[in-house]
Amino acid sequence: MSTIIDGKQISTDIKEEIRLQVEAMKNEGKRAPHIAIIIVGDDGASHTYVGGKIKACKAVGFDYTLMQFASTISEEKLLKHVDQLNGDEDIDGFIVQLPLPEHISVEKVTESISPDKDVDGFTNQNFGSITSKNPLLMPATPFGIMELIKRYEIETEGKNCVIVGASRLVGAPLALMMSNDARATVTLCHKYTEDLASHTRNADILVVAVGKPELVTKDMVKEGAVVIDVGTTRVKDESKKSGFRLSGDVAYDEVAPKASFITPVPGGVGPMTIASLMINTLQAAKQKY
Ligand code: GUN
Repeated sequence: MSTIIDGKQISTDIKEEIRLQVEAMKNEGKRAPHIAIIIVGDDGASHTYVGGKIKACKAVGFDYTLMQFASTISEEKLLKHVDQLNGDEDIDGFIVQLPLPEHISVEKVTESISPDKDVDGFTNQNFGSITSKNPLLMPATPFGIMELIKRYEIETEGKNCVIVGASRLVGAPLALMMSNDARATVTLCHKYTEDLASHTRNADILVVAVGKPELVTKDMVKEGAVVIDVGTTRVKDESKKSGFRLSGDVAYDEVAPKASFITPVPGGVGPMTIASLMINTLQAAKQKY
């Protein structure tokens, strides 16, 4: 029997811990942490994710400012808004929701965020500080995965951790965290990896973050493995009211019986990204007090 990792519940627990800390701060006469969220264009999925972030801010008692811009905004104008937030004393942290329209450089925008306000943990400086003894703000999704592993007391030291997907936002920073903090032996696979299954079958802990629905099937997973699915691709599903459902990168129904622990989609890693964002924003605010 596999244990289903309940990211939704853990995220709720973390938000409650943060809410209590915010309440205590307010009782001491300090103001609540304040996050700003920039969203550009009208991508439906992005608006749904941002809606989830705002809901979390309300639940923990943060102040928030939502800044919405048309997809036609110039890169220069967007960078000006980022700069203004960097200098705004009342804002503890902010994020720029991705993806951005094609005429805007994601790297230019994320690198222009002041690292001490970069609560997504996207900047090169925060990426680099993962290996430091005193990291500043951790990349949110991998930080959330590490928190799940810790709270479920999953053994990692000396284990084979195979990560599929070497993105800058998830796979690459997670590889550093699993190697440094969790003392696992890490294999980082990507689209150039030959014979992917020969690697995944070796995994005690398998993390998949590529955005390819049901890429990982049961023949690719070792009996008793811990399986963490970061994929959230919207696929058409006429039976749903919204007309779509979220699909993970793991063929859940056939892989779950083989796994010792497994994250569902939705309700696994997704809510943890938001919980990490709340942790980072609280930390950014505390650094100023
Ligand atoms: N787009 C998809 N996930 C994320 C995230 O965690 N942060 C931001 N800023 N954009 C995203």
